[in-house]
Amino acid sequence: MNDTAMLAEGFGHYNEMCVSCHGGPGIDPGELAEGLYPKPPKFYKSDDMPDTDEAFWIIKNGIKMTGMPAYGPTHSDYKIWAITDFLLNKMNKMTPEEYQEWIKKYPEKDDDAPTP
Ligand code: HEC
Repeated sequence: MNDTAMLAEGFGHYNEMCVSCHGGPGIDPGELAEGLYPKPPKFYKSDDMPDTDEAFWIIKNGIKMTGMPAYGPTHSDYKIWAITDFLLNKMNKMTPEEYQEWIKKYPEKDDDAPTP
């Protein structure tokens, strides 16, 4: 699996599970995020990003007493690394147009599809 495939994998999960709270390039967080306290941070063009290990840990374990869910019980470490990689290394470099293109290019995958 090459880098692009991994980023595409991470993108698919991010777009499916994270956008509603954290937003994305050209995409505002949805109503779900409005009702949360503390509010989910917007990551796109943020200069206050967690480092790699921290982001991985948070995505896997969630943050207690907040709306940030733990994805460890439902997602393999491989998928969580893919999400982390997309979030930290790709998303901020995308334009809103590019993000929309990826939505068309990498349609939602079946979560149960076997990946490493
Ligand atoms: C139901 C809403 C919700 C969803 C869905 C959600 N998050 Fe969060 N997330 C939060 C909230 C709220 C916080 C902030 C908690 C706080 O301020 O302590 C947070 C915090 C984080 C942080 C820590 C940010 C920092 O600067 O320390 C990361 C990383 C993160 N989320 C990634 C993700 C990813 C990746 C996904 C999808 C796999 C996701 N979140 C899905 C609500 C959500």
